[in-house]
Amino acid sequence: MLRKDINELLTQTGPGTPMGELFRQYWIPAMLAEELPENDSPPVRVKLLSERMLAFRDSEGRYGLIDEFCAHRGASLWFGRNEQAGLRCPYHGWKYDYTGQCIEVPSEADNSSFCQNVKLTAYPLVKIGDLLWTYMGDPAKQPPLPEFEFVHVPAEQTYTSKRWQQCNWMQAFEGGIDSSHVTFLHSGGLKTDPLFKGAKGNEYNMKDTKPFFEVADSEGGLFVGARRNAEEGTYYWRITPWVMPAFTMVPPRGDHPVHGHFWVPIDDENCWTYSFDYHPVRALTETERQAMIDGHGVHSKNIPGTYRPAANMDNDYLIDREAQKRGETYSGVAGIAMQDASLQESMGPIVDRSKERLVPADSGIIKARQKLRKAAVALRDEGVTPPGVDPEHHRVRSAAVVLPQAESFLDSCRDAVRATPGVPQSSV
Ligand code: FES
Ligand SMILES: [Fe+2]
Repeated sequence: MLRKDINELLTQTGPGTPMGELFRQYWIPAMLAEELPENDSPPVRVKLLSERMLAFRDSEGRYGLIDEFCAHRGASLWFGRNEQAGLRCPYHGWKYDYTGQCIEVPSEADNSSFCQNVKLTAYPLVKIGDLLWTYMGDPAKQPPLPEFEFVHVPAEQTYTSKRWQQCNWMQAFEGGIDSSHVTFLHSGGLKTDPLFKGAKGNEYNMKDTKPFFEVADSEGGLFVGARRNAEEGTYYWRITPWVMPAFTMVPPRGDHPVHGHFWVPIDDENCWTYSFDYHPVRALTETERQAMIDGHGVHSKNIPGTYRPAANMDNDYLIDREAQKRGETYSGVAGIAMQDASLQESMGPIVDRSKERLVPADSGIIKARQKLRKAAVALRDEGVTPPGVDPEHHRVRSAAVVLPQAESFLDSCRDAVRATPGVPQSSV
């Protein structure tokens, strides 16, 4: 359990909060690149860390992420005209460029310099892989761009989707490092999901319902090792990396693509779950890509034209009690992504962690909370740069391996948990 004040520290990410300042040390996904498909396409509302902004792509292809509201009298620039290298407020015609600089105030005299002194808050917006990334912190401390493997492999090897999740980022993220729920909640998916089924590892996963957890520090966060019995004298290890603050990877299964998540706070009661799948050494097959688009694996089927899942809290996630009874799905909710989201959202927008009762199988979560809290406090009190800012820390991978019982998972897997271009994932 957590003290109420610590729960607040971990879950509040608005401007000026310790965790909000921590998030503002990192490049984080702001949106999918597909949301701004071409020059002068319509601007998109983007809310991150409780700040309301507007993203647009100007006539020259430059990406901007600026304050949503016009500096004149506060109209939303979402109604704006994206034209001739800037966004024009439709109310009285003030115009801004991609850096938030006001470049035209039509009511002023032609020789007026008034607009030079008007600038909206703006953050960089940079395309890497299928994502547009932003950095919302002090420009003087802007770190080098992210190096996560899923955005750096060739386009045909990777796929990313996103979904709106109606709960605080922490309870979504905690699901990402909680390897012990797989045996229960996702047991149906291990047998039937096209992006999960058929791996030898699934058998170990299903047979041993009492995984033993060992958690090791990494430079950027943690490696959470979950150990299950395999053949005589061996253990099956599933290793989940976490890079601070919000990047997690799921241990792989057979030759399936490797998947993972980025959990990004919208505000304190909502987050974006970015779900990716990539293969380090080969293109995704058409069948795999179609399965991802159809909402299998870690992806969701969304309401067309939106990033809201079709199965959501307003329709009880389309729970099917008969499928639950037949054992097709463990909870009655279809799809791995919505199985996770339904339970994480069911805790309420911000779960009260002072009431929980943790067990040793939660040790990854306990360690991650300690690490986040320590980093947020060190940043607030001493200005210490947190782990995970250095792009070198991003070059990690998940792994699933069978090891002799005497071997330490981390010593044996040093190479397996490093993202090395051209080297396949370690997976059974
Ligand atoms: S409110 Fe935008 S130009 Fe007046
Ligand atoms: Fe899950």
